[in-house]
Amino acid sequence: MPLMTTKPMFDLAYDGGFAVGAFNVNNMEITQGIVTACAAEKAPLILQISKGARKYANMRFLKHIIDAAVEEYPDLPIVIHLDHGDTGDLVEACIKDGFTSVMIDGSPLPFEENVKLSAAAAKAGHQKGVVVEAELGVLGGIEEHVVGLGAEEYQKNVEKYLTDPRQAAEFWQRTGVDSLAIAIGTSHGAYKFKHEAKLAIGRIEQIMKTCPGLPLVMHGSSSVPQEYVDLVNQYGGNMPNARGVPEDQIHLAVTRYGVCKVNIDTDLRLALTAKIREVFATKPSEFDPRNYLGPGREAIVKTVKHKLQVLNCAGKAEAVIKQWKKLGEPLPAFYAESH
Ligand code: G3H
Ligand code: 13P
Ligand code: ZN
Repeated sequence: MPLMTTKPMFDLAYDGGFAVGAFNVNNMEITQGIVTACAAEKAPLILQISKGARKYANMRFLKHIIDAAVEEYPDLPIVIHLDHGDTGDLVEACIKDGFTSVMIDGSPLPFEENVKLSAAAAKAGHQKGVVVEAELGVLGGIEEHVVGLGAEEYQKNVEKYLTDPRQAAEFWQRTGVDSLAIAIGTSHGAYKFKHEAKLAIGRIEQIMKTCPGLPLVMHGSSSVPQEYVDLVNQYGGNMPNARGVPEDQIHLAVTRYGVCKVNIDTDLRLALTAKIREVFATKPSEFDPRNYLGPGREAIVKTVKHKLQVLNCAGKAEAVIKQWKKLGEPLPAFYAESH
């Protein structure tokens, strides 16, 4: 039953020129779509749950869906991860719920407060065998609202909000976190670039130099496939100018610059929504949820399969399990007790 932390995955990914996909889950169909694709491609995966997902789906339901995935695919290395945890209490709750990895996101806070919050989370996680991701720097999209920035201000002064390489080294040393989410020009959601769609690759390279060996994480990394944007717009939706991160830039970041985890949510939402819209528009008398959620789930399978090629992660499952066994990593305490 390879439910594991990200350690065996990142050990291999850092030098191996690939990254593990971290996909957001909110319900059964999304989870099934992701896991089916990863099983077909023999790829390790991270299933991540936001605070909003916990509230929407009820943690107990989500946990059992993920347990079912672990049982259904016993050879697939799977991590359960908290996405954008904002308080120590939420981190503690997730550790108790059997998560193998948590993110504490103190990025909207002043540096010293972010250090304090992240160091405490790292300590709490490590005591229970859970790995901890933190974040430094400001992403555009949803996070610009957290810190009260307008999109205009962010776009104009983006350099200022990118992760500072020297600060990253100090942050890592003082917090002891296991991985770091960095701001390099990505943003959450479906509208990522007003002008040139470009990542600050030079900045990732500098961070890699100041923090050698630290697994880096890219949030806001959906590529917003035009195929699904077009379907949404064709069938009654309204998503003008939706734009994601070019896939060649993601591929470059994961193959050359220490990026070990890539977060994807928007592309899954888009695939599901596009297909549901298509069914509703082309078969107006359809009202069996299986007949619209099913095609949506299929579109997620297709999207994730493609993504695994971009991340160069297909076929890496077996090596990750070998590394997991080599490390002799125990199951997190709560999970071991309850299984
Ligand atoms: O980064 C945010 C993720 O896309 C999760 O979004 O908080 O709406 O679940 P959510
Ligand atoms: P996207 O909105 O680009 O899918 O990013 C998701 C994310 O970063 C979740 O933490
Ligand atoms: Zn994110």
